[in-house]
Amino acid sequence: MSIGNAYYDAKLASVYDQMYPIEFDTAQAVDFISELAPPQGRVLELGVGNGRIALPLAARGFQVHGIDGSEAMLAELGARDPQGCVTTMLGDFTEVGTGVTFDVATLVLNTFFVAITKDQQLECLRLVREQLSPGGKFTLEAFDPAPYHGLERPDLSMRHLDEGAIMLDTLSVDRCQQLMLGTHTIIDGGPPQTKQHLLRYAFPFEIDLLAELSGLRLMDRWEDWTKHPYTSSSLRHVSVYEPTPAAAR
Ligand SMILES: C[S@@+](CC[C@H](N)C(=O)[O-])C[C@H]1O[C@@H](n2cnc3c(N)ncnc32)[C@H](O)[C@@H]1O
Repeated sequence: MSIGNAYYDAKLASVYDQMYPIEFDTAQAVDFISELAPPQGRVLELGVGNGRIALPLAARGFQVHGIDGSEAMLAELGARDPQGCVTTMLGDFTEVGTGVTFDVATLVLNTFFVAITKDQQLECLRLVREQLSPGGKFTLEAFDPAPYHGLERPDLSMRHLDEGAIMLDTLSVDRCQQLMLGTHTIIDGGPPQTKQHLLRYAFPFEIDLLAELSGLRLMDRWEDWTKHPYTSSSLRHVSVYEPTPAAAR
């Protein structure tokens, strides 16, 4: 089986809401992002998916644009957005920008790590910087790699999707390359289907350094969208960056 890109295929798109239940912290993420943008401001979501975050933001009056590499996820978003409140673009956010600027750009749920080399991560952040208007903000949500970096053998876990379906997840780590190979296998009575994806995890302070090299500087870091303090026991972070003033570069 070849490891393709991290775009969600049709099967993953069909179970996405069970994988990441909307009740978990979507409302808090939407509140957090809304606070950063001016009323009716322009918001860009990289890896917009089925619109979990983008649609509630658009309902609050923001002008929301989303990029995603998955036709299946954008089709799901389109089905939930018959009036086209969210403007979408099919593309790889590590390679292309929209050509316009935004008040806020967001990259949530560890999706930054789909850029699987340091150079791809740098290019992704450089593109974010290019798409921020003066005074713009960039939010990035990611897990802290510490528990995974020490993983000695593949980790196996299982999710309940519905009464007739489960998902088996495996995770193995190549520590010296900071790479993580994940598999999602859906067992639902039909032939099991597996999607593999590769992530390059990065520690928060490495992300800050890459951001600095891309013209962004850290403003705030929290443990979650409700602004619990980020501490040495935090397992993830929500970080906010802003363009570095030209004079400080
Ligand atoms: C974990 S989902 C997050 C979706 C949405 N942001 C949310 O919070 O529900 C990651 C999304 O990123 C997309 N994706 C992965 N790699 C990408 C890339 N290089 N360029 C554009 N989209 C990508 C996937 O297709 C998927 O829709």
